[in-house]
Amino acid sequence: MTPGARARTQIVIVGAGPAGLLLGQLLHNEGIDAIILERRSADYVRGRIRAGVLEQGTVDVLARAGVATRLESEGLVHEGFEICFRGRRHRIPLKTLVGKTVTVYGQTEVTRDLMEARVACGAETIYEADDVELHDLDGSSPWVSYRHAGVAREIACDFIAGCDGHHGVSRRSIPADALKTQERIYPFGWLGVLADVPPPWHELIYANSERGFALASMRSPTRVRCYVQCALDDPIGNWSDARFWDEFRRRIGAGPGDQIGAPASIEKSVAALRSFVVEPMRYGGLFLAGDAAHIVPPTGAKGLNLAVSDVFYLHEALRDFYRERSQRPLDEYSARCLRRIRKAERFSWWMTRQLHHFPDDPQSARMQERALEHLFDSDVAQASLAENYVGLPLV
Ligand code: FAD
Ligand code: DHB
Repeated sequence: MTPGARARTQIVIVGAGPAGLLLGQLLHNEGIDAIILERRSADYVRGRIRAGVLEQGTVDVLARAGVATRLESEGLVHEGFEICFRGRRHRIPLKTLVGKTVTVYGQTEVTRDLMEARVACGAETIYEADDVELHDLDGSSPWVSYRHAGVAREIACDFIAGCDGHHGVSRRSIPADALKTQERIYPFGWLGVLADVPPPWHELIYANSERGFALASMRSPTRVRCYVQCALDDPIGNWSDARFWDEFRRRIGAGPGDQIGAPASIEKSVAALRSFVVEPMRYGGLFLAGDAAHIVPPTGAKGLNLAVSDVFYLHEALRDFYRERSQRPLDEYSARCLRRIRKAERFSWWMTRQLHHFPDDPQSARMQERALEHLFDSDVAQASLAENYVGLPLV
């Protein structure tokens, strides 16, 4: 590195997942400069298949950021979903119960829309940035070093946003004794398959069967996304398409199971299930957002939605700092996010607990039976589930 060659920006964002890209867009709209450093290539980021369900609050923030044109025309608005318990299907009518809906629109599409908006506004994203390291986090002039195409580089900034997911460098750069961590690892994963066939179901079906959990979801009128709970020591290579669809059919029930048949998969992957939260979400000039600070098991469909609420709060705090030199929103950022995160963690735990087979807990099946029968019989319990599923407003 030649002395004096250090670049400068207001905010360095580490990670170009949905959290980092959306934060970049919200800041750009406020006239705040940011550079995004991403470890992977743009194609890799674009190709990652993950979430599918967006809360209305998330849709509103994406619209506010100016990146919802395609979402508004192609997103599938869902007024309810179903829970299937040992073959008995029960609908949770979200719209009737709480007057709100969710939108099915893939994280891949959200990412694509954000990447295109970032290119269109000329903001800088450095893909394939290796060895990102964060420096002087507790001083007034944080800076970041990295390597790009083999060349060492540095960027000085006012603040760093750690949007680099669970395995990123940001959280690891904070001294361990400055963070309180809570973690729970579940003894199973989700095996997900994507296939190009029209979904035979109109709404999502979450199934608790004697063989374990299954989820019938979708991405578009011509593409399904389905999951089955799987053992973590059962390698993905053992899961042929035929085995996947056979297991899915046994769990989801003969109606939708027979209708889907056994289409060829275009993607297949396993995700481990965990709950994880650190607090506070700030250390000096570093602010954590999204999966870098917390993970929820996917059953409640909350991870991407929480990443969006974090960066919405962070952009507001940074905006107020630059407009009014006000430190207060920055000081309140962590507590503001954590109120929402705790609620989502509790809900995701509840959904996971009621719908999966817990191999290490012989009591769990009886407990689930009681909880789900109560849910099916109680409008109050269903309204509470619906309220949690649709989430809180943001804007
Ligand atoms: P990420 O998407 O993980 O992005 C982090 C980025 O940082 C990545 O691009 C990574 O390459 C980059 N990075 C990492 N380390 C470095 C480094 N050292 N230097 C530079 N860059 C780095 N959520 C929902 O809301 N609804 C759902 O329906 C839903 N379904 C899900 C289903 C599954 C199977 C899974 C696995 C997750 C699901 N989620 C869902 C969760 C959601 O996908 C995540 O919460 C979301 O991706 C978090 O976004 P993020 O930007 O914080 O992190
Ligand atoms: C999807 C993922 C989820 O975690 C969920 O709860 C609902 C849908 C999906 O990928 O479509």
